[in-house]
Amino acid sequence: MMRTHLCGELSKSEIGQTVTVCGWVNRRREHGEHLAFVDLRDHSGIVQCVVDNTVDVRSEYVLRITGTVTERPEGTVNEELATGQIEITDASVEILNAAEPPPFPLDERADDVDEMVRLRHRYLDLRRARMQRNLRIRSQVNAAVRTAMVNQGFVEVETPMLMPATPEGAREFVVPSRQRPGSFYALPQSPQLYKQLLMVGGLDRYFQIARCLRDEDLRADRQYEFMQLDLEMSFVEVDDVLAATEVSVLDAVEAVTGVRPDPIPRMSWLDAMNTYGTDKPDLRFGMELVELTDVFGATEFKAFATAQAIKGVRAPGAAADWGRNKLDGLTDTVKSIGAKGMVWIKVADDGTLESPVAKFMSEGEQAELSKRLEAEPGDLLLMIADDWHTTCEVLGELRNRLGRPPVSEGPFKFLWVVDFPLFVGVDAATGLPKAGHHPFCHPHPDDIDKLESDPMAVRAWAYDLVLNGWELGSGSIRIHDPELQQRVFKLLGISDEEIEARFGFFLNPFKYGAPPHGGFAYGMERLAAILSGEENIREIIAFPKPQSGLDPMTGAPGEVSEDQLSELGIKVLPPALD
Ligand code: AMO
Repeated sequence: MMRTHLCGELSKSEIGQTVTVCGWVNRRREHGEHLAFVDLRDHSGIVQCVVDNTVDVRSEYVLRITGTVTERPEGTVNEELATGQIEITDASVEILNAAEPPPFPLDERADDVDEMVRLRHRYLDLRRARMQRNLRIRSQVNAAVRTAMVNQGFVEVETPMLMPATPEGAREFVVPSRQRPGSFYALPQSPQLYKQLLMVGGLDRYFQIARCLRDEDLRADRQYEFMQLDLEMSFVEVDDVLAATEVSVLDAVEAVTGVRPDPIPRMSWLDAMNTYGTDKPDLRFGMELVELTDVFGATEFKAFATAQAIKGVRAPGAAADWGRNKLDGLTDTVKSIGAKGMVWIKVADDGTLESPVAKFMSEGEQAELSKRLEAEPGDLLLMIADDWHTTCEVLGELRNRLGRPPVSEGPFKFLWVVDFPLFVGVDAATGLPKAGHHPFCHPHPDDIDKLESDPMAVRAWAYDLVLNGWELGSGSIRIHDPELQQRVFKLLGISDEEIEARFGFFLNPFKYGAPPHGGFAYGMERLAAILSGEENIREIIAFPKPQSGLDPMTGAPGEVSEDQLSELGIKVLPPALD
């Protein structure tokens, strides 16, 4: 064995013992004429070693140090360090490897370093305590989730990475075929189709910690490659899927935090939109949207008179923080996300409403508005009047901007959002409804008779899991009856030929006795990021892509040789000129 202990696990109970530790030089400081302090770091922490100063060791040298654990002299205890009460003295140093000076300090100061520099040298960034902690949390989440699934009788099955193009929403990465030049595989956006075929195949309960790939614009909660806890179950209803998923998620939280969150409450999509203006409400704070449409039923105020929906939100005590310029900026933002405008009101000390548009509102309207919003002196009130969807969505965004705590602030507030609409909006070009989730979602049985007569009112047996305002996952009960599937396709305007060409391989097997089934998938990075208090899932991925998608460490994506291209039958066109 190269070492007897990890650096971070040494404490007063080892005093007097001879120990050997291995790691990297975090810092070296001279100490008197003959001695030097070497802070040695491994993944568990840092320990101070007192060494002969003639040894030539510098930052990030790889060392093996043997010495005696000694209580630090009075006055030199370091409370900030877990091992701060002891040090290793009489230390002999073996240099296992020299190191060039790192391009950035490998401690919390690197948080302020340009992210491209961190990612170019990710192997060094990973040595930092923050990254070590995050990847270990992620591993704990993986282990807990896998155990939870196995304990519930789920079977782990791997599904192919090379598959045909799928009907799910995002753009796919494609892989050219050498055997059939001009043909392409697609990398899986999710194992959706295969997992449903596994149900036809009688697997009954499937799960996979599945790698998924989507060629979409990268954001704080989106990478090209990510992992899903993916599950599918046969002979189940919505409650069964939610219950099985919930066990795995709560087990993961408990494994990381030691505390099991409360059972997850449920809210309908309609209530979530009306109350929080979003299908992923952050329940860590209040500031619920307040219905005001009827208050302005007979208003003279033009901007409100014709609006389909009027809602307001109260930011307690925020009036003083929001000067004219900041409010103008907020109004611009609101317009850029689709609203016609925003009304702001400040509540004065005597309770009167101060706003450029207050004069257009009658006394009665002002009184009722104050009452509904429970306005107090010093509050900032924001109102949106627009079509229902825009009003909800824009006010929901304002609520988040004004009240949402950072990710690192607890507690963990989960929510099931259920009864999503089957269709969202109408395709501008065709006038046909667009599928909300994917075209295989089972309509709510109570609404099936409205499919043709009032499609936009049909709810789906589809549900999302939300944590602190992040969409963690989604799922649905699937259509297993070919006739119902046909009706939905027809509504979506997908022709029989298109169905056969795009989904034939998937739907034809259903004719051989598909069981009723449903499932779910949630993003492992998103869960681990929130549990780590990280705003960006990049921080909990060992080798993520920056927002540009170009990997500064490996240089990917790169060109391939002419030979490789010609073998694949591919000719690269020069970039199009704008
Ligand atoms: P959906 O597309 O909603 O559903 O994806 C489920 C969850 O996967 C995570 N996720 C991502 N995480 C990081 N980067 C991305 N680019 C990314 N895209 C998605 C999110 C999301 O909620 N097959 C269906 C599930 C089902 O119906 O069973 C599906 O993939 O956390």
